Amino acid sequence: MSTIAQIGTDVAHAAALLQSGEVIGIPTETVYGLAANALNEEAVLKIFEAKGRPKFDPLIVHCASIEAVKNYVTGVPALAQQLLEKFAPGPVTVLLPKKKIIPDLVTSGLPQVAVRIPQHPLTLALLQALPFPLAAPSANPFGYISPTTAQHVAQQLGSRIPYILDGGPAGVGVESTIIGFEEGKPVLYRLGGLSISEIEQITGPLQQQLNQSSNPVAPGTLKSHYAPRKKLYFNPKGIVSGNAAVIGFNQLLPGYPAAAQTLLSPTGNLHEAARNLFATMRALDEDPCDFIIAVAFPGEGLGLAINDRLRRAAAG
Ligand code: TXA
Ligand code: MG
Repeated sequence: MSTIAQIGTDVAHAAALLQSGEVIGIPTETVYGLAANALNEEAVLKIFEAKGRPKFDPLIVHCASIEAVKNYVTGVPALAQQLLEKFAPGPVTVLLPKKKIIPDLVTSGLPQVAVRIPQHPLTLALLQALPFPLAAPSANPFGYISPTTAQHVAQQLGSRIPYILDGGPAGVGVESTIIGFEEGKPVLYRLGGLSISEIEQITGPLQQQLNQSSNPVAPGTLKSHYAPRKKLYFNPKGIVSGNAAVIGFNQLLPGYPAAAQTLLSPTGNLHEAARNLFATMRALDEDPCDFIIAVAFPGEGLGLAINDRLRRAAAG
């Protein structure tokens, strides 16, 4: 391996690398991203290569502000504008009609580009320092668990990129919620860090188009994703015998040794549980256990996104 990524907090260095067409790791409030100049097709190609990502799976474009977003889209529907005004910077992505300046590679040939404004001070400073937006998928090998620390990124992609901007552990812990607009009506494509109820306060009732294994609008929302290498059972009926590790919410699961159980939030806070989810899945993947059992989380707020990720991990 020729390079080992440096980990640091040098925004100017990160900006210089991006200016010269490199791919680097960046922090966001949801998960870490693998970023490159979204307007430079060659740089974007390096993202797909580093991640082992199929080109039919489009990338999210990260911008510093709503004003910046408008440079790359031909229009912003009123509901999208209201969503961004209320929740950006924050864990929400909107699908908007792209301008030609966004390469087709970024959107996998789709007419819409996914854009979001990440809520992280280092990455906002980085975006403000750059004359272009950043295309960035989650910084994990395709199909694996998303990274929530710079160290997670280094462990798997450190030999493929020169630098990881270290913004500490991600504060939200699951990816952004993706919203599109079809004939003016809001559609939910991916559950994520902004809850449906918060979004519906602005948009009214959302239609849902989730869980499609080949989805022409959001091809990356594949059924099997976010998967550890070990087998994961989501909310199994009855006791699964063997050397299990259990991911729970705030109470131990009867029938398994307490020492084999990790509670994501002993106080029953779904935000805390989301923040701990991916790091726990990674740790258990390295643990001596033979397989992982995850309970179903409450079907409200961030519990819906947590259950979505666990269900996809179980399908892997
Ligand atoms: O929180 C997040 O969104 C993180 C951080 C790094 O910003 N990014 C992220 O990217 O989760 P990724 O590539 O792992 O997932 C992005 C998903 C794609 O798999 C696809 O489903 C959807 O966003 N997407 C991207 N561009 C799209 C487009 N033009 N049309 C429809 N869906 C799109
Ligand atoms: Mg991803």
